[in-house]
Amino acid sequence: MTQPARPLAGAIGALAAVATAWICAVRGPVSAQPAAAPPAQPATDEAARGQRVYQKYCRECHGQQGHGDGPGASWVSPRPRDFTAGRYKIRSTETGSVPTDDDLLRSVRQGLYGSAMPAWDRLLPDGDIADVVAYVKTLSPRFSTDAPVPVVVGEPVPSSPESVSRGEQVYVRLQCGKCHGTDGRGTGAVTTDFEDDWKQPLRAADLTQPWTFHGGATARDVYLRFRTGMSGTPMPSFRDTASDAEMWDLANYVVSLGRKPVWSMTAEEISSQYAAEAAEAKANPVGRGRYLVDTHLCALCHSPIDAQGRMLPGLRLAGGQMVKVVPYGSFPAGNLTSDRDTGIGAWSDDELKRAITQGIRRDGSRMLPFPMDWPGFAALTPDDLNAMIAYLRSVPPVYNKIPTRSRPLLPLYLWGKFKMLILQQDPPIIFYPGNAGDRGGRS
Ligand code: HEC
Ligand code: HEC
Ligand code: HEC
Repeated sequence: MTQPARPLAGAIGALAAVATAWICAVRGPVSAQPAAAPPAQPATDEAARGQRVYQKYCRECHGQQGHGDGPGASWVSPRPRDFTAGRYKIRSTETGSVPTDDDLLRSVRQGLYGSAMPAWDRLLPDGDIADVVAYVKTLSPRFSTDAPVPVVVGEPVPSSPESVSRGEQVYVRLQCGKCHGTDGRGTGAVTTDFEDDWKQPLRAADLTQPWTFHGGATARDVYLRFRTGMSGTPMPSFRDTASDAEMWDLANYVVSLGRKPVWSMTAEEISSQYAAEAAEAKANPVGRGRYLVDTHLCALCHSPIDAQGRMLPGLRLAGGQMVKVVPYGSFPAGNLTSDRDTGIGAWSDDELKRAITQGIRRDGSRMLPFPMDWPGFAALTPDDLNAMIAYLRSVPPVYNKIPTRSRPLLPLYLWGKFKMLILQQDPPIIFYPGNAGDRGGRS
């Protein structure tokens, strides 16, 4: 099978780009705050040049100091890599070893499919990519003390029905199905929800969707992933568990599980694919709701941020981010966790639907159509709206009492309308760092 195209990764990347652009462009006062101390000057010219590339293009996700904690980091899953740990997922080297330069260059050039990590070969000249990789290596001491230990890859076994069927037996014997299911898409798995080493949520790959494999979907890519393991994740290394030929059979089997992507389907195939997905969404409203809440960026406004635009820990969806719409006033975003006193725990479904699709607060007063684009949410289907609510009700309660919103003064309101409708100027929207909510003494 050839390397599939990457519309999905592109879509997710685009989403992250929107989120990041939002944070950078709109959160004026936030980025004006002094950031952490600048990192030390690297020793070589190459790394010094790479540092400039890094600060321009990588910092937003990977963080000023490379800790994987840039302003964009809290909004994407999986999270950007923490370069200071020197632990990498996509390697051609033994488990525990650092990756080779070629591994890193490849990840930066082609991006990590199915994640927010962009493919930089379309955006940066090769020289810049080499420089930035040299710089990234200086962020972990491991690269100066450890040499990469490449795995010895045996002769590939070409794919054939026999190899695939032998590979299926290896899949059963090595119990890949414990995490990936008997069918590669989670059926019968003990669980598919994991955490990475940084306690961030991570899902076991759906082996029927090879275009989401971060390291690529050729038999060789798949072979390397289970042979070397993916450091920092629960995906283990299967070194010495089978003969080399059996591992190639297994890789061929995994590749054979890949279903047709929608961009290669006929109209009928797409309809039945979407019907199956709709049935699945109906059977798992909380999962569907989480996906919708993520893709509609609800957490981007409904979680408070620090001075660098990073989400305050433990307060995802707990509201309290102050949003100023000039000249209308300041509006703290509501607490959407299931807390009964300060969140949506005591709201009825109808009250929530009214707020989300008609902009009517619980007390019956009206919200402006910005910053929250509730007119846009009015297009959600009833099933999707119910799913979103089911998910919000499942979010653990966080006590965070949001102050009441100030009502815009009439002259300011009319001035704002005049500017929008007659002068055609959009109202500036400013996001403030810190939590405007009252945690009632809780930390
Ligand atoms: C929009 C956010 C974003 C930007 C910008 C970004 N990255 Fe990433 N990067 C990620 C994410 C997310 C991951 C982790 C993906 C995963 O775990 O599958 C990642 C992972 C990586 C990895 C690790 C691969 C591995 O094997 O673990 C490298 C290397 C990397 N990025 C380099 C860079 C460089 C160099 C730049 C700048 C030129 C950059 N990234 C810019 C989001 C970003
Ligand atoms: C303990 C659970 C676990 C077991 C057992 C396991 N995996 Fe995984 N696997 C994962 C997780 C979690 C991920 C997602 C890692 C990520 O996204 O960073 C993953 C990812 C993958 C990927 C995607 C690689 C990529 O480039 O993104 C492949 C392919 C894969 N596993 C194959 C296998 C095979 C084959 C086996 C059996 C030999 C196996 N896995 C056993 C948990 C597991
Ligand atoms: C662009 C920022 C933004 C986004 C995105 C956003 N909201 Fe809001 N939301 C707000 C602000 C600000 C308020 C408070 C507005 C006001 O009271 O006038 C609010 C209010 C609400 C309220 C009423 C809460 C209360 O306590 O009165 C609900 C419910 C709500 N949002 C749900 C959602 C959901 C669900 C999503 C995602 C589908 C979402 N919001 C996306 C900014 C946003």
